[in-house]
Order: sequence, then structure tokens, then C-alpha cells
Amino acid sequence: MLQVNNLHVHLDTPDGTVKAVDGVTFSIEAGETVGIVGESGSGKSVLAHSLMKLNPEPPAAYPEGDVYFNDRSVLKMNKKELRKLRGSDIAMIFQDPMSSLNPVFKIGKQLIEAIQAHRKRPKKEAREKAIELLRDVGIPDPEARIESYPHQFSGGMRQRVLIAMALASEPKLLIADEPTTALDVTIQAQVLELLKGIQKRYGAAIMIITHDLGVVAHLADRILVMYAGRLVESGSAEDIFYRTAMPYTWSLLRSIPSVGGGERLVPIDGQPPSLIDPPAGCSFEPRCPFATEACRHVDPDLKERGSGHEAACLLSFSEFESLKEGVVSS
Ligand SMILES: Nc1ncnc2c1ncn2[C@@H]1O[C@H](COP(=O)(O)OP(=O)(O)O)[C@@H](O)[C@H]1O
Ligand SMILES: [Mg+2]
Repeated sequence: MLQVNNLHVHLDTPDGTVKAVDGVTFSIEAGETVGIVGESGSGKSVLAHSLMKLNPEPPAAYPEGDVYFNDRSVLKMNKKELRKLRGSDIAMIFQDPMSSLNPVFKIGKQLIEAIQAHRKRPKKEAREKAIELLRDVGIPDPEARIESYPHQFSGGMRQRVLIAMALASEPKLLIADEPTTALDVTIQAQVLELLKGIQKRYGAAIMIITHDLGVVAHLADRILVMYAGRLVESGSAEDIFYRTAMPYTWSLLRSIPSVGGGERLVPIDGQPPSLIDPPAGCSFEPRCPFATEACRHVDPDLKERGSGHEAACLLSFSEFESLKEGVVSS
């Protein structure tokens, strides 16, 4: 359904060109859940916005590659085609619920407008649909809550309203950009549970973006790990968690409390590289505990490590396995 081919996204800044997305290729099938994971600044949001051509141009430019939705180039779409894509094919839940809801209008009015923008129907019918959506996302007493303003909802409830807004257009792909970051852990779990339910009922594909691998562990059919604008590992949740084949993924796993399960947490040393002037070899080399001289010169491509499992690392799977064991037993 969605195909991203060797996508490059550049952002023009006074300091130079930021290569926010640097040759990314992947696809999403109908009904699938794909998780995109990486530290802050790795290019996840810029990538997500590219799928709907939402990055403002300038500063953004797409020098190479393309995005296809049902075999049609998104980057070549005109305004009218983009409106249709954004209004009924792909919907996005943004990072900050408050910034995407208008504080001066009631939730119901905003929801009804979103419903009618997608498909013309009588006000009364749209209102009923709005109530149904609020009920579907777990808002108690939706008939009354439809008259509330955004500030009268808690953070978790606002996030649910945003999901309802995104569903108003009956999208085939729902992109959730760090939908739970601002929420406490219990609420996060509820929102994720809700996304899972939505997928069953609405049959939409979901792309969930997070800096926390724990968030997508139980949710995603497939996980893509992003570092410095590139994909460095992709595979099933089992591949990523139990057959980790790239030192960055491994470091990420070790830095997460919910996954480490009793082991001590090890933060990743150092900072991600500059996306303006990235290092010559592997972009993780300066922070990698297993880097060799070769890693400073060779930037590895994604290579297959098993069925549906790819990683970008000069180390072979078995070399990395024994290096990992050395660290864990020492
Ligand atoms: N409008 C912009 N202008 C310049 N640089 C930007 C802009 N938006 C994002 N960036 C830069 O692009 C890189 C990727 O950002 P982003 O996609 O937001 O990362 P993530 O979502 O993974 O945290 C970062 O280095 C960020 O500073
Ligand atoms: Mg982001």
C-alpha cells in the first residue's frame, strides 16, 4: 500500500543542509502495524511528514527517491491530489494534542467538521458519527462530552479525541507520531490498547513512531530502527529483541527500563552525529562499543540476517553474537 523508495529529505538551514532522511526504503502493507524507533533527532518526524508531503518546502526539499501510495507518487501529487490523500487515505496523530486541537471550539464542532470534510452528510448524521467515534475511542458519556472544550479534557482523553479526529476520515493508514510521550505510563498503555483495537475494527494500517522500543514491543508486526536519518535494522519484534543484529539497536534495548527486565540500565554514550556533516563511515561508529577501524571508512548497507530481518553493520550475525555475550558475562 505504501512504498518508500530511497527517500532523501534535506532541510535548508543557515548552518548548512540537514540530511534529515538519508536514503530510506521500506513498505507498509494494508492492515499492518509498523513501529519506527530511534532517539530524538534521528529523522522520524521528518520521515513521517514526508509520507503526506507535509514538510514545508522550503526549508524541506526531496532531492532523491519517492513515496508511493497505492502505486501513485506522493511527491509528484498536485494540491488537489494531496488534499484527497490527507483527507481520506492517510491521517496523522501529532506529537502534541494541544497544538492540533483548536482551544476556542468545542470538541464536537471540530469533530463534525472533520467528518464533513471527508464526506458530505447532513449535520445531524455527522453529529451522530462524532458521538460514535468518541465512544469508539473510549470517551465516557460522549453525548455530553461533545459539548466540552479541549482544555476540559485530561491529557489522555485529549489524545483519544485526536485519535477520533484522525479516524473521522476513515484512513487506510494512521500515522501516530509519539502519541504517548506526554502521557503517564498507565494512560500510555490504554492509548496503545486503543490503537490495537482500532486496527481490528477499522482495518487501518498503523505506523507508530516512538523513541521507546518498549512502546512498540507488543504492538508492531514489524519494527524499523532509525539512526541519523537512515534505517539501521528492521525485522519482527522477535528479531529486534532476541536476534538483535546491530549495535545501535542493542544499545537502545539496554537503555530501556521496561525491556531490560531487572538488568541495570546502560545509557547510550555520546550524542548522535551531526546531520549536516555526518561522519564518513558508519554513523554509529563514534558511539559503538564494537567499532573497528573499518567502521570509520565503510558505511554499511542493510543486509539480510534472516527472513525479513535486515541490519546495517559490518559485523556478521555470529561475530556480533559472541561480542554481545562477552559484554553480558563481564
Ligand atoms: N524545520 C526544520 N528546519 C531545520 N531542521 C529541522 C527542521 N525540522 C527538523 N529538523 C532537524 O532534522 C533532524 C530530524 O528531526 P526530526 O525528524 O524531528 O527527529 P525525530 O522526530 O526523530 O526526533 C533533526 O536534526 C532536526 O534538528
Ligand atoms: Mg519527532
